Amino acid sequence: MKELLQALTPGERDWRIAAQLDPKRLPAHIAIIMDGNGRWARQRNLPRIMGHKAGVTAVRTTVETCAQLGLEALTLYAFSVENWKRPRHEIEGLWRLLRFYLRNELSNLMRNDIQLVAVGRLESLPDLVQRELQSVMDKTAANRGMRLNLAINYGGRTELIDAVNALLENARLEGNLDALEVTEEGISNHLYTTGLKDPDLLIRTSGEMRLSNFLLWQIAYAELYVTDTLWPDFKRTDLLEAIFDFQNRERRFGGLTLGGILPGESATCLVDEEVLELPLA
Ligand code: FPP
Repeated sequence: MKELLQALTPGERDWRIAAQLDPKRLPAHIAIIMDGNGRWARQRNLPRIMGHKAGVTAVRTTVETCAQLGLEALTLYAFSVENWKRPRHEIEGLWRLLRFYLRNELSNLMRNDIQLVAVGRLESLPDLVQRELQSVMDKTAANRGMRLNLAINYGGRTELIDAVNALLENARLEGNLDALEVTEEGISNHLYTTGLKDPDLLIRTSGEMRLSNFLLWQIAYAELYVTDTLWPDFKRTDLLEAIFDFQNRERRFGGLTLGGILPGESATCLVDEEVLELPLA
């Protein structure tokens, strides 16, 4: 958090939003469904891949800002198991962009102490993509700052299937298949995100009110934030506003009490008064 404020110019719009955030109540883990690249391109009469290309800039800004805020983890939905249904040239373009990102971003990942981990059924990716992902994962493995999960060939249901199969396989190897009892902890420990806190905040761009098979288990208690902004237009300001909104939610986790919001204070009013009145940069 301190790092982000130091990187911004005092008084500028993002600085003013960041200065209002409570550093003690930042989400530990943010997950993002980056949607709207195609529409962004269509609005400009450009091929869809140009929308994805513009989306890489939003990825860079978001990753850096989350690291500067001191988040523990950021999970980005880059390619779903369903995305194979897209035209071949779009899929190949996405792999080219991913490789471009990996090659160009390594120095920034190292500078920001970010550990990159690809999550999903990676064995189905083209060899070259697998090799480059593995290389960046190896090079950033010792980084101890934020963990950046890139969900690639990811599906929430396939993740659950993989987790249950891993549980069964372990029990089989240990010879206690008959005694296997499936528990919440057992499943969590076999997900791709094992060891990480579940996301506190799930952001989806482009206004769609869907979960699209993303982190189905892990988002059980996440706060959802949907913005009409298309992913390539998603700026640092949008991210900070989402976190500000998150901090003014009442998180009850199924219980009745809440901490953090002052008695009698209206969180929604606070958002309207403080964020919307900010002058445009
Ligand atoms: C959804 O928009 C976006 C994707 C399927 C791909 C996301 C990829 C990037 C942001 C760029 C590469 C990623 C990394 C991590 C370097 P859409 O195409 O479904 O948009 P639409 O709904 O408007 O058609």
